[in-house]
Amino acid sequence: MREAILILDFGGQYTQLIARRIRESGVYSEILPFNTSWETIDERDPGGIVLSGGPQSVFSDDAPHPDPRIYDSPRPILGICYGMQLLAQHFGGSVAPSGEREYGRAQIETLNSNPLFEALPRQLEVWMSHGDRIEELPDGFTGIANSDNALAAMAWPDRGFYGVQFHPEVAHTPKGKEILENFLFKICHCQGDWTMASFTQNAIAGITAQVGSSRVICGLSGGVDSTVTAILIHKTIGDRLTCIFVDNGLLRKDEFQGVLNTFRDALALNVVGVDASQGFLDLLAGVKDPEEKRKIIGREFIRVFESEAKKLGKTEFLAQGTLYPDVIESVSVKGPSAVIKSHHNVGGLPEKMSLRLVEPLRELFKDEVREVGRELGIPENLIERQPFPGPGLAVRIIGDITPARLEILREADWIVDQEIKGAGLYTKIWQSFAILLPIKSVGVMGDNRTYEYVIAIRAIHSRDGMTADWVPLPYEVLGQISNRIVNEVQGVNRVVYDISSKPPSTIEWE
Ligand code: XMP
Repeated sequence: MREAILILDFGGQYTQLIARRIRESGVYSEILPFNTSWETIDERDPGGIVLSGGPQSVFSDDAPHPDPRIYDSPRPILGICYGMQLLAQHFGGSVAPSGEREYGRAQIETLNSNPLFEALPRQLEVWMSHGDRIEELPDGFTGIANSDNALAAMAWPDRGFYGVQFHPEVAHTPKGKEILENFLFKICHCQGDWTMASFTQNAIAGITAQVGSSRVICGLSGGVDSTVTAILIHKTIGDRLTCIFVDNGLLRKDEFQGVLNTFRDALALNVVGVDASQGFLDLLAGVKDPEEKRKIIGREFIRVFESEAKKLGKTEFLAQGTLYPDVIESVSVKGPSAVIKSHHNVGGLPEKMSLRLVEPLRELFKDEVREVGRELGIPENLIERQPFPGPGLAVRIIGDITPARLEILREADWIVDQEIKGAGLYTKIWQSFAILLPIKSVGVMGDNRTYEYVIAIRAIHSRDGMTADWVPLPYEVLGQISNRIVNEVQGVNRVVYDISSKPPSTIEWE
């Protein structure tokens, strides 16, 4: 059984970060819903359990609680924030709403030597975010750190139970990594042998066991997730994998041929390239509504994919580049979030096609996928590609999609891409791209009045696409992009920069 730390998710905003930090320290970690049964937890034989933070107060009627049997187990537990209050409440301590809500940076002083703070300075800077506080320690526990106005950490070392009121997983707790590592290695006695090389080996064994001698198809998007999925499977079953790469007429400049060449020549994949662009563009003609566009593209994609798959003969499996955040989202305690946009990827396919799924990356975060890609020898330019939405340029042309507008956007987007890369920013930014606005504005070129389209530029930093901050691009880069677009792209006389974050905006404009 693989060594693992389980994180029970009480809905805290940093739960994913806890998992990432633990994995960065070489220990596999998995997030499970807070109410996971003890049987399921025990079956996974975890080296330790983390109770995450959460937005609730332990006093509220609907406060989430774990299966109480975890408290009887010999496995170490680290409660973070809400998790610490759960520990305190369960073992009979008293938790009270704090008059002074602590939020933000705080100094704590560790009180006595104990494994959680081993080899760390006595004064530590930490990130707090809590309303309730522990007034009376539960039996068995001792205080191991204080902040100015609250108990900051407690421990029952004989049982391996620890609670911290602050968030060791965030960057604002500079020694957080060391604190978590003390929990992993000094308290849970983990080995720390989770690496991407070991992941790759296990994934290959897993694919072999799942697929046997069957055939697999994989829809490629040109993005890193589907590429790594395809290479991993190809490494395992060779030419029994067929990849399908569809030109929907909504790709970036030179993308179809470029990506196809790389897949075939550099990666030696068995790829069927399908030019279905006309069909997509015909269906989209005159459609302005963003959701309608997405649905049309999703449906047509399935149709094309299905018809290509039929030509291949008997195929039993469909490979998908599903990542861990997608998996977590479906088990999260936050409940179903409103459909903001109907994202489409090949996810709509299986039901319709009665293919079984192979999803070798479903345990990984994006940065881990990139590392696996490197492990597999995938060229850096493919690994570092910024995400590109399935519906492509269709959601970056506001309103009607016409061949002329596509041409304008492709050229403008190409310039953004070149300039961002030229400035050495491409890999530092989550996404940078152009959007065509369907409005015209007046300009002057030479001695003539012009009346042309507006191009918007968007560049954002993000960790996972769920939230995003706009990037303060250097003025020179913005100036150069603007200059080149109005000079080189016919049909544009104005460039604007999008300075909205997500929320309240979204990353794509449609
Ligand atoms: P939004 O616009 O929802 O985008 O803030 C979040 C991230 O998802 C990408 N995106 C998509 N990816 N199919 C995809 O595969 C889609 O339909 C889709 N729509 C948006 C977007 O580029 C950003 O990275």
